[in-house]
Amino acid sequence: MPGFSTRAIKAASRVPPAPQAPVNVPIYQTSTFEVADAEELAELLEFSRPGHSYTRYSNPTHAALEEALAELEGAEACLVTGSGMAAIHAAVLSTLRSGESLVIPRAVYGGVVGLARAVLDRSGIATRSVDTTDLEAVAAAIDGTTRLVWLETISNPTTAVVDVRAIAALAHERGALVGVDNTFASPYLANPLALGADLVVHSTTKYIGGHSDISGGALLGRADQVAAARQVLINAGGNAAPLEAFLALRGLKTLALRMERHSSNAYAVACALEGAPGVVRVLYPGLASHPQHEMAKRVLRGGMAGGMLSVDLSGGRAAGEAFLGRLRVAVHATSLGSAETLCSHPASSSHRQLDDEALALAGMTPGMVRVSIGLEDPDDLAADLTAAIGGR
Ligand SMILES: Cc1ncc(COP(=O)(O)O)c(C=O)c1O
Repeated sequence: MPGFSTRAIKAASRVPPAPQAPVNVPIYQTSTFEVADAEELAELLEFSRPGHSYTRYSNPTHAALEEALAELEGAEACLVTGSGMAAIHAAVLSTLRSGESLVIPRAVYGGVVGLARAVLDRSGIATRSVDTTDLEAVAAAIDGTTRLVWLETISNPTTAVVDVRAIAALAHERGALVGVDNTFASPYLANPLALGADLVVHSTTKYIGGHSDISGGALLGRADQVAAARQVLINAGGNAAPLEAFLALRGLKTLALRMERHSSNAYAVACALEGAPGVVRVLYPGLASHPQHEMAKRVLRGGMAGGMLSVDLSGGRAAGEAFLGRLRVAVHATSLGSAETLCSHPASSSHRQLDDEALALAGMTPGMVRVSIGLEDPDDLAADLTAAIGGR
């Protein structure tokens, strides 16, 4: 009879039959899968046989999230990753090679600027920043080397809403693809592939997870493009984790409800802050004063504008920092898209890569604070933020 340890390992590895399907997708918390022979493993590693071999390549919980996200974004295929940045990295490196170039918005998540500086530059991929709300400027920025134009449905942190349809048309004419980071809108408020984009990315860390408790990303598009991105992920690393994929699936079930509440809360707070003492400007696409308010109505579902707003405070950098120290309901923390209202100061956190000149070009000011409106009661939020701006 085998010894205790051998029996324990065999006994604890037996997967029980499950004749009744569970209501939730199981968490396949395993790094590897047993195969019958070398041929099966080789075919699984080449994706020429359905199934799973090793979690960096694929995993059933990941596959369930990929299918769900593909359905909700109207995509042929999806790849889930360990973070939003891993998805952006895979999107870019599967599209561009050395000697080619990428066009990015001036107002873009700071991590993309970091990627350009720390990774792409060293790989011989050039990046040009442009005001993506200006179609002529986008057209002028695309040259013979440009293979990808990167956009954000709603930009971080200035909440600019871009005309994905028009930019896709002009990029395609010039032989470039269009990738859209749809994190701020979520698949509930916008589907950029239907507007002509070729790739869509999400940081599932944000609205899809929805509770500030996971790190994850997703890349969606045509099957061949997603397969190329999977090769980048397999070879460079950055794969999703099964537990995080499960939590993202759970988040999807309440995404619509949460986005509706984020949107109605954010609209109420934006109205309360607009014109309040100490406030120069509130940037929220749902406000009639927003530069792309009409575009937002066309791009975003049902007149909703999501939960992100930026407030330019009259006292500059010092006012921004003091505001964060006075919050009682909202939390001073980076990130966004969760049940809690999170406030940050882009000039010193997510956009610290930008100097004052680059901040101004991107439509930001040193006194700008970014607010990710959560799911609390809107009156409590409006009172907390107004008091924190006014010095309490
Ligand atoms: C718009 C946007 N895209 C991508 C990312 C990166 O996502 P992650 O932190 O999951 O890598 C962030 C992070 O804040 C973001 O705000």
